[in-house]
Amino acid sequence: MSSLSPLKSLNIYLLKYRWYFLFGILCVILSNVFSIYIPVFVRQGIDDALFISRISSIPNSNILYSGALMNAMGFGLAILIAAILKGVFMYFMRQLIVVNSRRIEFDQKNQLFRKYLKLDETFFRNNYTGDLMNRITEDISNVRMYLGPSIMYFANILFSFVLIVSQMWMVNHTLTMWVLIPLPFLSYSIYRVSQKINIGNKKIQEQLSTITTKAQETFAGIRVIKSFGAESSFNKDFYQSGLELRKKSLELAKINALFFPLMAFLMGISTVIVLYIGGLEVEKGLFTPGNVAEFIIYLNMLIWPVASLGWTTALVQKASASQKRINDFLGEEEVVDPGNKEFSFEKNAQLVNLNYQYQDKNHLALSNISLEIKKGMSYGIVGKTGSGKSTLIQILSRQLAVGESNYLVDGIPVLDFELSSFRSKIAYVQQDVFLFSASIKDNILVGASREVSDTELEEVLRLSALESDLKLFKDGIETIIGERGVSLSGGQKQRLSLARALLRDAEIYLLDDCLSAVDAATESRIIENLSTIQKNKTWIMSSHRVAPLLDSDEIWVLEEGTLTARGNHKFLIKNNHFYQWLNENQQES
Ligand SMILES: Nc1ncnc2c1ncn2[C@@H]1O[C@H](COP(=O)(O)OP(=O)(O)OP(=O)(O)O)[C@@H](O)[C@H]1O
Ligand SMILES: [Mg+2]
Repeated sequence: MSSLSPLKSLNIYLLKYRWYFLFGILCVILSNVFSIYIPVFVRQGIDDALFISRISSIPNSNILYSGALMNAMGFGLAILIAAILKGVFMYFMRQLIVVNSRRIEFDQKNQLFRKYLKLDETFFRNNYTGDLMNRITEDISNVRMYLGPSIMYFANILFSFVLIVSQMWMVNHTLTMWVLIPLPFLSYSIYRVSQKINIGNKKIQEQLSTITTKAQETFAGIRVIKSFGAESSFNKDFYQSGLELRKKSLELAKINALFFPLMAFLMGISTVIVLYIGGLEVEKGLFTPGNVAEFIIYLNMLIWPVASLGWTTALVQKASASQKRINDFLGEEEVVDPGNKEFSFEKNAQLVNLNYQYQDKNHLALSNISLEIKKGMSYGIVGKTGSGKSTLIQILSRQLAVGESNYLVDGIPVLDFELSSFRSKIAYVQQDVFLFSASIKDNILVGASREVSDTELEEVLRLSALESDLKLFKDGIETIIGERGVSLSGGQKQRLSLARALLRDAEIYLLDDCLSAVDAATESRIIENLSTIQKNKTWIMSSHRVAPLLDSDEIWVLEEGTLTARGNHKFLIKNNHFYQWLNENQQES
């Protein structure tokens, strides 16, 4: 039973929606109560009909005859009414329990999604997208099968079994025992078959997600594939995965094909037993033919609950495995925000003896960095590729965490500031641009917490030199830019993400090499534009080239994670060989 313990965490939902479950179970009971009357009425109807056929040959039996006929018709009507009532309550039991499981599914999906948003970057680096997607789709749907159908069928099995068997017992003890003998076998074999079906389904799901990933990567990398002439190897690979899927699907189809024949076989055996033993009892005069019919109906009524016991047990096991994965994930440590102070930036920010090492690296990405950032000044970070520019910017934007004493703002550890309040005052443009498959406008407005007027929008487009590009797009700013912005050039993507950042009412702007794909003329136009709005704001911009940083108040030179020089362009060009080298080499290129 301990394998089912993960399902305990769903009890809060059972409690939250208790009335749906309680009324649903009440409907299960009522539908069973009405269905139990049907075989009784059938037996009485048949026995009446037999009686009619016997007495119709006797003379002067008119009164008896019409009395029995009325009775038989009465039973017919009663069967109809019982069947209707049973149907009505079955409808409500589904409505209440199964439909309710959709509500819980909705709640759970939202709970998971909120959790995803709370986890930090490390988590996303360590988990595959496909896996995260499975959690929110497949696992939740497995759990829903437990909360809806499984609970409903268990309640149904319980009540129908008790009612039917006790009714059978009242009619005939011996026959009841005979009928019950094959049922545990039926239940067990269906359980085994369902388990096999589940395993088969799982394998197919995994294979399907391999295929989806392959197809997705192929489409994303179609340009590389075509230009390297790699079509045939990709095709072969896809074909192999397809074959594997076909093999697994055929295996599953074989097992699936067993399900109903198995049920029919075991049910057939029970029916033969009823007919044989029942026939003997009729011969002895202990049983009427109506009783035999009644028993066959009971048997039919028992088959489904008994079969579904096996099926439902397998479903519950599957749900439990899924809920365990969900629980593990919900238990993932969230980024706890230790800070509670409202962020403000009055004088300066400082990095003090800062070292930074990535988990999977054996050297420091930044070593012993000490810097001062004064409010209202502009800074440049320059260095070769891999020198630590992005790492430094990510630390400043609190994407990467550092020790309490290593990063201070106005003398207060930055960790003391509430993260959301801190972020609301930071505009960060990351080096590898991410765009959503939405319109240009919506991409710029991501995260905008207030109404943005058209003039403001036009202003940021002008500042990031996007205006003239937009004229070339069919729908202007409303143009949908395709998956991750495929329809934009590298420089356009960068300027778009710059525009997105400029729209923020930030104190500190952190731009990570965000003009690397923009031509020199446009770059200097943008830099000039930015200089007009830099007043009172703090700007930090990294670049592997010197050109965009010329006017910065201070430039930091990074070499392999170490800060080797600082000063303005004039100073560095005079005093620093490396900087001179960078400057000259780039002018040549
Ligand atoms: N997420 C990461 N995990 C592990 N190591 C990383 C990660 N990001 C960067 N690094 C390593 O840290 C070092 C500094 O990288 P960083 O991205 O800060 O350099 P950069 O100066 O921005 O380079 P570029 O000009 O190419 O953008 C490199 O050695 C890099 O391999
Ligand atoms: Mg970088």
